[in-house]
Amino acid sequence: MQRCRIAPSILSADFARLGEEVRDVVSAGADWIHFDVMDNHYVPNLTVGPQVLKAIRPYSDVPVDVHLMIEPVDELIPAFAKAGADYITFHCEASRHIDRTLQLIRSFGVKAGLVFNPATPLSYLDYELDNVDLVLLMSVNPGFGGQSFIPSTLEKVCEVRRRLDAYRAQTGREILLEVDGGVKPDNIAQIAEAGADTFVAGSAVFGAGSPEGYRDVITRMKVAASEGMAKK
Ligand code: DX5
Ligand code: ZN
Repeated sequence: MQRCRIAPSILSADFARLGEEVRDVVSAGADWIHFDVMDNHYVPNLTVGPQVLKAIRPYSDVPVDVHLMIEPVDELIPAFAKAGADYITFHCEASRHIDRTLQLIRSFGVKAGLVFNPATPLSYLDYELDNVDLVLLMSVNPGFGGQSFIPSTLEKVCEVRRRLDAYRAQTGREILLEVDGGVKPDNIAQIAEAGADTFVAGSAVFGAGSPEGYRDVITRMKVAASEGMAKK
């Protein structure tokens, strides 16, 4: 099987038992934990901050991918880095100085990622590939779990895949390509075939309701994603 990563989003977990939920999805095969941060300013919803990240950190060893849906961005990066983030991603429109924000994240030894909303053009990547470790394409408008996958994302995934492959051929460096929003067992193969290697899934995983259910969904997603990746 080709390497793919499934990153359950804690947004759909039971917040009263967050540590346990993290432990359960990781024992069920999750490769990463996706940590959604919303500020009721950049997006119309409010979630969790660095204290909660610090509190869940001891429950697993897998990388935690912190998705910042906040504006401004820079002020909170040190706190998330110190709380144990492995990746920090932010939205192109939420930073006035994208290059500075990417460098700030990396100055803490944390991997940096740029997030594109469905309508955000890919031109923000043109001069920044050297400073990016991860590209995150939103396949829903950010703010809520449980929305439907926007099909035009597939074309965007193909375009980013082309750019990242060309960059790897030139530099030898691999940048990950993650898709977030409405990813399910029945569409993940197509998304993988388009070129994604990392898949966020909130409602699909936590909606399964039990550790056995988590394992079943994650396994099905991995098998389907690997089949899709193999077709590329
Ligand atoms: C949306 C969040 C997503 C969301 C995904 O703003 O960034 O990570 O939790 O949830 P599902 O998989 O349910 O679309
Ligand atoms: Zn997210």
